[in-house]
Amino acid sequence: MAEVNLEIAASASIHLVCAFLAMEPPQVLISLARVCGDGSIAPAVQKFIWDHCLSKDGLKSHGPYMKSFLKKLIAEVEVEGIDVLDELYEHLALYMTSIKDVHLEKGDKRVLKQVSFIFPDDYYKSPIFEESRKLVVPLQCSVNMLEGDTGCSIWPASLYLSEFIISFPEIFSGKSCFEVGSGVGLVGICLAHVNASTVMLSDGDLSTLANLKLNLELNKHIIRTDSVRCIHVPWESANANDLKENRPDIILGADVIYNPECLPHLVRVLGCLLNREKSSSTVQSRPVAYIASVIRNIDTFNLFLVLVKEAKLSIEDITEKGSKPMNLLPYMHSYDRSSLRLFTITMDITSC
Ligand SMILES: C[S@@+](CC[C@H](N)C(=O)[O-])C[C@H]1O[C@@H](n2cnc3c(N)ncnc32)[C@H](O)[C@@H]1O
Repeated sequence: MAEVNLEIAASASIHLVCAFLAMEPPQVLISLARVCGDGSIAPAVQKFIWDHCLSKDGLKSHGPYMKSFLKKLIAEVEVEGIDVLDELYEHLALYMTSIKDVHLEKGDKRVLKQVSFIFPDDYYKSPIFEESRKLVVPLQCSVNMLEGDTGCSIWPASLYLSEFIISFPEIFSGKSCFEVGSGVGLVGICLAHVNASTVMLSDGDLSTLANLKLNLELNKHIIRTDSVRCIHVPWESANANDLKENRPDIILGADVIYNPECLPHLVRVLGCLLNREKSSSTVQSRPVAYIASVIRNIDTFNLFLVLVKEAKLSIEDITEKGSKPMNLLPYMHSYDRSSLRLFTITMDITSC
């Protein structure tokens, strides 16, 4: 059996398991497996994958994903000229004959992903926390990015905003928070983790909202209290008075700037949530919105800026202003942090 560099393998093996649970693309798993084995998918690495990723799955994982991973893994090992562990062939054979795919063809396209935030050594020196080195968030997602009006997938901006929340817990701890376009609910669960006083999650799509509620149930171990709630808020018809009643300290949104037709409504909703009565609006108590976004279409983003200005809101790009979150998802190679921007939006000081 080939020697494995145990020191490198220690963190790489954690990353490999986290990547598997998050359903990172098979190629990512292969490259992490190679790091574990000092360049080779040696028998010891295959055994590790079997013991920690495959042996306990009981054919419950997403069939097409498992087939693709196992095929790629076996092919790479064979090319290396190394013996393939029998269990890997057997597991692939089981998935090839599994009836699971029949269910998938009928439309049962939900999968359970686990997003594991891995904290640096000194993170829990903060008095707010005392527990483990990892925060694991199970999330039911769709394998189809566009299902539930896009809201049943984990988008990169919610990963970034979640890393930001966990990196700067003091901003959110004890604050009332309101998220627009919450999708699968990852941001809200992270807000609960850092002890936000209340968390209101919202979405305009009903199937997304049903999935979000299920994810809150799945994460009872993190949420602990009933401080996290979710409501149906389509931006087009959201009532200004209802929105203002929430009076959140902090408003959040991840990957919500993409549809030009929705933008005027989104900006109106943000304006209502940010607008506090004049008497209570000291600079310190003014609400602030944190909006994370990948700018995929510059015209759409520029339209958002124009609408924000027309609504007498101030926007600031804080991505490079000492606000970089820690890299808490180092195994998630499919997530390109460099494409993310983080903005704050407040009520224009002159209009308060
Ligand atoms: C690209 S997804 C982002 C989801 C989640 N924030 C994330 O980053 O993973 C956009 C979200 O905004 C919601 N959304 C889109 N248009 C909306 C509208 N007009 N009113 C309310 N929610 C809307 C979608 O249902 C979806 O959950």
